[in-house]
Amino acid sequence: SEDGCLSIVVLGASGDLAKKKTFPALFNLYRQGFLQSHEVYIFGYARTKISDDDLRDRIRGYLTPNKNTAEGHTEDVSKFLQLIKYVCGSYDAAEGFQCLDKEISEHEISRNSIEGSSRRLFYLALPPSVYPPVCKMIKTYCMNKSDLGGWTRIVVEKPFGRDLESAEHLSNQIGELFEEPQIYRIDHYLGKELVQNLLVLRFANRFFLPSWNRDNISSVQIVFREDFGTEGRGGYFDQYGIIRDIIQNHLLQVLCLVAMEKPISLKPEHIRDEKVKVLQSVAPLNDEEVVLGQYDGYLDDPTVPAGSNTPTFATMVLRIHNERWEGVPFVLKAGKALESRKAEIRIQFKEVPGDIFKCQKQGRNEFVIRLQPSEAMYMKLTVKKPGLEMSTAQSELDLSYGQRYQDVTIPEAYERLILDTIRGDQQHFVRRDELKAAWEIFTPLLHRIDKSELKSVSYKPGSRGPEEADELLKKVGYVQTHGYTWIPPTL
Ligand code: BG6
Repeated sequence: SEDGCLSIVVLGASGDLAKKKTFPALFNLYRQGFLQSHEVYIFGYARTKISDDDLRDRIRGYLTPNKNTAEGHTEDVSKFLQLIKYVCGSYDAAEGFQCLDKEISEHEISRNSIEGSSRRLFYLALPPSVYPPVCKMIKTYCMNKSDLGGWTRIVVEKPFGRDLESAEHLSNQIGELFEEPQIYRIDHYLGKELVQNLLVLRFANRFFLPSWNRDNISSVQIVFREDFGTEGRGGYFDQYGIIRDIIQNHLLQVLCLVAMEKPISLKPEHIRDEKVKVLQSVAPLNDEEVVLGQYDGYLDDPTVPAGSNTPTFATMVLRIHNERWEGVPFVLKAGKALESRKAEIRIQFKEVPGDIFKCQKQGRNEFVIRLQPSEAMYMKLTVKKPGLEMSTAQSELDLSYGQRYQDVTIPEAYERLILDTIRGDQQHFVRRDELKAAWEIFTPLLHRIDKSELKSVSYKPGSRGPEEADELLKKVGYVQTHGYTWIPPTL
């Protein structure tokens, strides 16, 4: 089924997601030779009445070279843009989709090497409110019609609903039209290099096998920080808040990969089965272990409703009730307008039993996986301080990608994930039952926040967030190392 014409249709082609992520990802794939066959064609679809060239002009500025690919960039941009054709139409009327189908079919007839076979990928760079009508239109007018091979797939992105009920409703609507193997729910954190590395790290290294459990690990933190606020998207953000925007999807997906048992094989279904089990083992959240914050100034955004209680920061403890993790707090923390931009996983180990160096020690072992920026993993450990004296110091074993893999350009998350959708690999996409289990965890808490039964405390933009969050961390047993900071190596 991986042969025949490939038509990639970007719906919402003139929107932000398409311009900033989808088209640049397609361009990078093109540059690496993945979309260069004469059988590949790209269609942009949106409501605005513009020409092919107008669309190309809107995209061009976002197709920027990176350090290893500057050569030949301009020519490649021109060639790539020529692959794009624009079709204008609404999201809920037959006409536009009939026209789209006609364009796709014409392209297929003129280019197809394998008669009748065709592959159609629909990327919905659209607000979820129009997913149901758009899916209906695709199903009615634009499916791959051939019995001779090929497929039709749709790619959708969060927010998938606002809570369990609305998410299930959306899933039902889409599920009536498409089978699960045709639906690709993107969570772009699953496309990040170090997130993709987690399974390899955990299950291909003897080091980790015996230590990755409650006997050795005292806490796990999964942290997302941004050093900017909701500038320009306050209106959107306010309907969702940081839990729906980051924690329920991106951080929870990372948690699954950190906590899951070893899958039977690398088959996508086997991996996703294990992720679902972790989610189903999460105990109901305890209000005492949740801190919500909102940065000062958030309410000044004219698009944010006055008096909004929407959190722009949250720290919460998830408890996984199973044999491996009972008693180990998984702390998920995310915030906007903080002091830095970074995302990392921090695994802290317990004290050494019967420690004879205790009086001199400054900290516990930690294994840190830095997702961004400066991808790295490092192990904080205690060593003898080099020199004549017998004293100890905190040091690290450091695998910094920028240094270790100097000639490698790390692909963008979207690039990789779009390639997976073309190849038909669902490993890094969220399955329906996974999505449901994820909403089950957060829905009661979200409803209490929506009703203002739980309040956000304020914090200063550019700070670490509310102090209460650090106190919570301490309460659940996290021990901060004093006098040690990891410094990413410079080239
Ligand atoms: C998006 C959120 O999913 O992820 C944004 O909606 C956030 O609020 C973004 O800024 C962060 O992605 P990344 O890849 O820059 O960490």
